[in-house]
Amino acid sequence: MRNITIHLPKRLEIGAGASARVGQIVEAERIFVLATPHTAVFAQKLGLTGQITVFDDLPGEPDIACLEAALAAARAARPDLVVGLGGGSAMDVAKLVAALWDGDQTLAEVAGPNKVAGRRTALVQVATTAGTGSEAGIRALITDPGAGAKIAVESPHLIADLAVLDPVLTFSVPPAVTAATGIDAMAHCVEAFTNINAHPVIDGFARMGIDLVGRFLKRAVQDGTDTEAREGMMLASFYGGICLGPVNTAAGHALAYPLGTLLHLPHGLANAIIFPHMLAFNESSVPDKTAEVAAALGLSGDLAKAAHRFCEDLGVEMRLSAHGATEDQLPRFAADAHAIRRLMNNNPREMSVEDVLAIYRAAF
Ligand SMILES: [Fe+2]
Repeated sequence: MRNITIHLPKRLEIGAGASARVGQIVEAERIFVLATPHTAVFAQKLGLTGQITVFDDLPGEPDIACLEAALAAARAARPDLVVGLGGGSAMDVAKLVAALWDGDQTLAEVAGPNKVAGRRTALVQVATTAGTGSEAGIRALITDPGAGAKIAVESPHLIADLAVLDPVLTFSVPPAVTAATGIDAMAHCVEAFTNINAHPVIDGFARMGIDLVGRFLKRAVQDGTDTEAREGMMLASFYGGICLGPVNTAAGHALAYPLGTLLHLPHGLANAIIFPHMLAFNESSVPDKTAEVAAALGLSGDLAKAAHRFCEDLGVEMRLSAHGATEDQLPRFAADAHAIRRLMNNNPREMSVEDVLAIYRAAF
């Protein structure tokens, strides 16, 4: 068995209403909150008593300019606490702002593993979606529009002092977003579970996450205020986040990334579209684990069709053409995805550029 390292937030608060207790747990004088226009409203409900500055100019896929703007705002606010309040975009930017605002390292200098020099500012992550699992881990992804790719920063200094999983904060997430982000959470679990670097400890978290998605995603989509289902999905997302640390994703996420950078699809939706195709493509290399996934999701019969129907029945529009893709874009998507070797090399079944292109064509 290979050696692995698991970083977890120093403290976790889990359950309905947990977010209101942040102020009792963490004392701070100047608080800098990274939010989105949708999640900024929650900043006043965390029980914080210090001076709060909210930066909510965050798009779904934050890029370098967006991080620079957040850093400039943080330098003006001089926080002793940074709070990520949102989905992956808010939490990823919060990690980098907390670590970089008072130092002299640039994004280029910290790109890659273990380059961040340190962090003096406390970091709290409050998830408001169930999908990215960013609250669980040490990785932050920033889009580089020039390269059309993601810059991955990974450091133990990016782990949260406190992470909050409060299902009530996800009640207002619309059904389509709940579905797509929920499938993204599952994809983190499945791609780690079937990964060539799979590890028994991470398999355990992956199984718990996949099982929760099978039990609760449909309910969370049908009734956004189903607390039990929302809490189940938040845990699935958190377990997926743990899977991302020591094992990470594989070809599924590599194929999803060009749909984000070039077609501008939200990350969860891009992964939902790719998920059934990758599950079926990898089946011959990891048959037993694929059978476990199918059983947990209640899939029977032809795997590709059943997995496709699973996503479609949740209300996800699965055709790339319906999202504005044109057929002449597919070879570029395939070339870009195939070039993301850090993920493609994790896949249990070797993929040629033609294999990748065939999946985009099937999803078109
Ligand atoms: Fe993802």
